Amino acid sequence: MEIIIVKDYEQMSQHAATLINQFVQDNPYATLGLATGHTPERTYKLLIEAHHDLHIDWTNITTFNLDEYIGLNPNSPHSYRAYMQEKLFKHLNIKPQNIHLPSITGDMAQNVINYEKSITNAGGINLQLLGIGQNGHIAFNEPGTDFETTTHVANLTPMTLSANNRYFKTPTDMPSKAITMGLKTIMQAQAIILLASGQDKATAVQQMIENEPSAKVPASILQNHNRVTVIVDQQAASKLKQVLR
Ligand code: PGA
Repeated sequence: MEIIIVKDYEQMSQHAATLINQFVQDNPYATLGLATGHTPERTYKLLIEAHHDLHIDWTNITTFNLDEYIGLNPNSPHSYRAYMQEKLFKHLNIKPQNIHLPSITGDMAQNVINYEKSITNAGGINLQLLGIGQNGHIAFNEPGTDFETTTHVANLTPMTLSANNRYFKTPTDMPSKAITMGLKTIMQAQAIILLASGQDKATAVQQMIENEPSAKVPASILQNHNRVTVIVDQQAASKLKQVLR
């Protein structure tokens, strides 16, 4: 793991956007894995700015998002499809047919298989962007998830529900299930960038980097990947015991 410690959320976002912009410029036919949540919001704003100001071209970029809630109306503003559309896609020249999120309509067992297949058929993910949950989850791979899992339906833990239900008008409106890329799916990406900001991520970051890889902290699997860049701000890095700080 390459670990980059920066001052704050803004610097984390600037660093991430620089890496992604460079990657898109160098690999105009790349397939990117994308994340939702608060963490990448500013990064996405910076990608949009670079698209406009530096003419970074997304015409031939393909994207796969990590996950999607199950049980929402497909047009719900809380869906990750809506998030991605609002916060990134509608501002870029990416082709709608190149955008992929797991389907939440119809037969979920089939959707799971189809999503995994569509990633393989696209040639795999070249660069995967990740956040991390307070409980060490990546995508919706909650603690206890087997390292061998591919795309699957996950039950969200109480910690994840309480971290994310602030985005819903009524907290109980938040679905308790999601379809998510598995840990194995994520590990198959050629390169990974994980972002973490804020004190509430400090324990998860410390365990991801310093614990023996274990299903208790799903993000710790990333220690077994040979191209991971972790960009953390000082607060998120504040519990690291090693001299990194
Ligand atoms: P957040 O979520 O960016 O909203 O903190 C990250 C995650 O749960 O993976």
